Amino acid sequence: MLVNTKQILEDAQRGQYAVAAFNVYNLETVQAAIGAAEKEGQPVIIALGERYFPTVDVEGFAALVLALAAKSRVPVALHLDHAYEKSSIVRAIRCGFTSVMYDGSKFALEENIARTKEIVEIAHMAGVSVEAEIGSVARGAFSDEEEGDGTLTDPESARRFVAETGVDFLAAAIGTVHGMYTGEPKIDLALLDRIREAVHVPLVLHGGSGTPDDVITKAIRAGICKINVNTEVSMAAVAQLLEFSADPSAGKAHLSTIMANMQQAMEPVMTKFVRLLAHKGR
Ligand code: 13P
Repeated sequence: MLVNTKQILEDAQRGQYAVAAFNVYNLETVQAAIGAAEKEGQPVIIALGERYFPTVDVEGFAALVLALAAKSRVPVALHLDHAYEKSSIVRAIRCGFTSVMYDGSKFALEENIARTKEIVEIAHMAGVSVEAEIGSVARGAFSDEEEGDGTLTDPESARRFVAETGVDFLAAAIGTVHGMYTGEPKIDLALLDRIREAVHVPLVLHGGSGTPDDVITKAIRAGICKINVNTEVSMAAVAQLLEFSADPSAGKAHLSTIMANMQQAMEPVMTKFVRLLAHKGR
């Protein structure tokens, strides 16, 4: 069933677990994400990034996700990931997204507060919850996200940001990267503890891919309720496609088979995350 992201994350905060937010771009990614969540009996957040608006028909896609959510045996939310434009936020709200992320992280704190506050006012009028980010998540390998400068979140700025904007969830930058790590991950869990003491809304961790399981577990214990995952799932599908293409008879294959195989390759990766996030924080 479709459930508001805020409810899903407040339940997670109370239960001390986290919910996976999978980036999706087509029917197969959505089916894989909901399939993994159903297999584990856990909620899931379906996240479409603004960067895919040029290639994905947003209204059509939202209708499809909402229809699959209505049929699902587990709570499903529809989230707009990393939106930089007010028009994208309004577009997502109009077609039924249950939450939006406004990313003003490239602006100085004052400007980010002013811009985010306006988005919160608009979204809350429509009953839609808002995630925002201070600090900035850097980009590692194989990621499709914008480059961030890797500035970590300052706890006092986080306190002010949440109090003044009224955001429902806060993405904290503690050293994870979008994509795969190119060296040893340096994740500041002590900083996360300080951010947790400063703010009481559910916290979000971007850059789930490649993050060691024990770090994810500790981050959930320290208050992370939503973990975004994109690259690792994409890599599994691409690896499957490459393996398939290496077969001499691949040229005779039907597209429907190729798409189904890619979905099948994504599901175990998503299941791994859903399971880890559901159980390890307790
Ligand atoms: P990864 O690509 O590292 O999984 O991060 C995804 C993300 O944080 C999207 O917002």
